[in-house]
Amino acid sequence: MKVLLLGSGGREHALAWKIAQSPKVEKLYIAPGNAGTSSVGENVNIKATDFPSLKAFALKNQIDMIVVGPEDPLVQGIYDNFKNDDTTKHIAIIGPTAKGAQLEGSKEFAKGFMMRHNIPTARYKSITANNLQEGLDFLSTLEAPYVLKADGLCAGKGVLILPTLEEAQKELKEMLGGMFGTASATVVIEEFLSGIECSVFVLTDGKNYKVLPVAKDYKRIGEGDKGLNTGGMGSVTPVPFADDTFMEKVRTRIIEPTVNGLQVENILYKGFIFLGLINVKGEPMVIEYNVRMGDPETESVMLRIKSDLVELFEGVENGTLDQYTLEIDNRTAACVMLVSGGYPEAYEKGKVMTGFDKAATTDSILFHAGTARKEGEVVTAGGRVIAICSYGNSKEEALAKSYHVADMIEFEKKYFRRDIGFDL
Ligand code: AMP
Ligand code: GLY
Repeated sequence: MKVLLLGSGGREHALAWKIAQSPKVEKLYIAPGNAGTSSVGENVNIKATDFPSLKAFALKNQIDMIVVGPEDPLVQGIYDNFKNDDTTKHIAIIGPTAKGAQLEGSKEFAKGFMMRHNIPTARYKSITANNLQEGLDFLSTLEAPYVLKADGLCAGKGVLILPTLEEAQKELKEMLGGMFGTASATVVIEEFLSGIECSVFVLTDGKNYKVLPVAKDYKRIGEGDKGLNTGGMGSVTPVPFADDTFMEKVRTRIIEPTVNGLQVENILYKGFIFLGLINVKGEPMVIEYNVRMGDPETESVMLRIKSDLVELFEGVENGTLDQYTLEIDNRTAACVMLVSGGYPEAYEKGKVMTGFDKAATTDSILFHAGTARKEGEVVTAGGRVIAICSYGNSKEEALAKSYHVADMIEFEKKYFRRDIGFDL
């Protein structure tokens, strides 16, 4: 089988690593990929949202399956685009239709969906410039802190959490006034939930589903979860509080109503559903849906999937996922992200990276996020640079291995958090 994977981050290197292990795959391409993905497949210089070029490439190279890493192509309708075209409709697409991708593409749609299917989530109100007063009034019924979410995609920056009512009211007006362009023309105001978060990943063929290992990510730049939000500084799987009792609630109250809800609403969905959950005194509630895998959760979750992922994807395409088993490694997996100094604000690129030879003598697995090859060397090419992932019989053991390798990989102004997993 010839597979084309879309995306260019650590998540995609981890997916590529796993896909390339399948005996079913004779050729793996990654568009556009990064310096890491080129070691497990062939990079193709096409953007993940350039549908005409992707189509031409897929036809010329007889691609059988496209696995979509990031959300943008999904929200822009890659599934529908390929399936509504007679020349490309035979290609399996792992990812939902544009309508299904609205679970991530529109916070308002996601909240409405949860209401329609009785899925536990924070109380909310959806506001536009036309009902601003209703929004201001709703805010004054809530307690601090206040949560404002831009309806549309904002590259992970569309959620504001504000300590006072005055600030929340001011920011609401600014968001509606175009703070995030059209993405914040509608704003969802939410009740603040307190608890510990985790990421649950579901793979579905639209009616059957498999639950992947549960992970926790660490989004803030600073230790102790302080400072600015990033794309993710590390991850750990499994998550001890996501025990059988908790997961049974997740299954019956969230996963099944979600998968059934999609069917009831005639939304074709063949791909990953990422449930951003919060544990409120033992009760799981949905913070957000994403329609793709998480990053950097994927980097540790892939280590724990023993089954052939491509075989599972075939089950997704054929609607026969119930006939497959998902085998999971019982060990812990943890990943630590090395980032460029200054990230998530301004940072420099092009720093030469060394220490790969030494790292190769360990059993840690390195997934490139923002790297490039330049004149025979690997250089930094993004804020998040490389994810160092390890197995262990405990969280402590897995993290100790990753930190050992984090010290071996060198580049100017390297930074990473030394407290991943601190709250588990
Ligand atoms: P997002 O950018 O959608 O991933 O949201 C960013 C973060 O905001 C989430 O990971 C949560 O930590 C936090 N958050 C979002 N909604 C709520 C809420 N209703 N209550 C508490 N925290 C929230
Ligand atoms: N790690 C969170 C995300 O991928 O959105």
